[in-house]
Amino acid sequence: MNAPAPQNLAVPALNLTLKDRIDQKIFDALYSRSLVYNTCWEDPAVDRQALHLGPQDTVMVITSAGCNALDYALQGPAKVYAIDANPRQNALLELKMAGIRKLGFDDFFAIFGSGYHPNIKNIYRHQLRTELSDFARTYWDRRYNWFASRHGSFYFHGLAGFVARGFRTYFRMRPALAQRVTELFASTNLVEQRKIYDEKIASELWTPVINWVLNRQLTMSLLGVPHPQRRLVQGQHPDGVSGFIRDAIEYVFRNLPVGENYFWRVYPAPSPNSCRPATSRSRASCCSTTWTG
Ligand SMILES: C[S@@+](CC[C@H](N)C(=O)[O-])C[C@H]1O[C@@H](n2cnc3c(N)ncnc32)[C@H](O)[C@@H]1O
Repeated sequence: MNAPAPQNLAVPALNLTLKDRIDQKIFDALYSRSLVYNTCWEDPAVDRQALHLGPQDTVMVITSAGCNALDYALQGPAKVYAIDANPRQNALLELKMAGIRKLGFDDFFAIFGSGYHPNIKNIYRHQLRTELSDFARTYWDRRYNWFASRHGSFYFHGLAGFVARGFRTYFRMRPALAQRVTELFASTNLVEQRKIYDEKIASELWTPVINWVLNRQLTMSLLGVPHPQRRLVQGQHPDGVSGFIRDAIEYVFRNLPVGENYFWRVYPAPSPNSCRPATSRSRASCCSTTWTG
């Protein structure tokens, strides 16, 4: 089943350079064929504080990986409408909802918490597949093995997963830096965490190579950011896109307890089962709370 053609997200054609047109073609080609986000990137805890959802509320949310739509559902609103221009994002939410309806906690957490389940073939075929729409079934029939992948986990699939694989390869070429990142994720308080980031990671991480890669439109297209949006970000920071991303990551790892940060834990975890976060909030959020919901 062919997905509907994506809306052209480019700015009016008048002032586009040849490079912009080529970048847009590459973005549309990637976006119209791929799952981009395998996890949401904006923290719903902030939305909860702002929205105060209640039983009388109906809320519309961009699906992305579906995590936030499910998090909103935990607040008990009357309805949650999850919409996305990319039907593969909705297919991922459908798979999560099928898991919530049909699976026990451990199976659900292995699939969506760790992103790895050795028995995914049977679980998908016998418990999840019948719960899906035609589009989602056709999509996952060819991709359920992402959850038992030689690449380590589902979180190394989709376009964002492809970028994560690139960074994982980079960290494998820099084992000392990788060890310091593991140390950072093992830190138990913000003072220790900030010290590791400032003294052991920051100067080693933000190298010309990393900055060059982050400033490429192709990297941004793989992360679902079309060139008009990249140009907006580039215009907002003296060091361009890489400076913007560096500041964002610096804020996250210097100010937010890593133990609660389930967004980042799905990536640097060296093996499928080690992304079981330490604290109750990060274990309860996203996948497992949706299960208990
Ligand atoms: C950067 S993500 C952010 C979404 C979400 N806030 C999160 O936490 O991940 C953007 C999502 O918006 C979707 N999207 C982009 N433009 C859209 C549009 N015009 N209508 C509906 N969805 C759109 C993309 O497919 C993608 O899943």
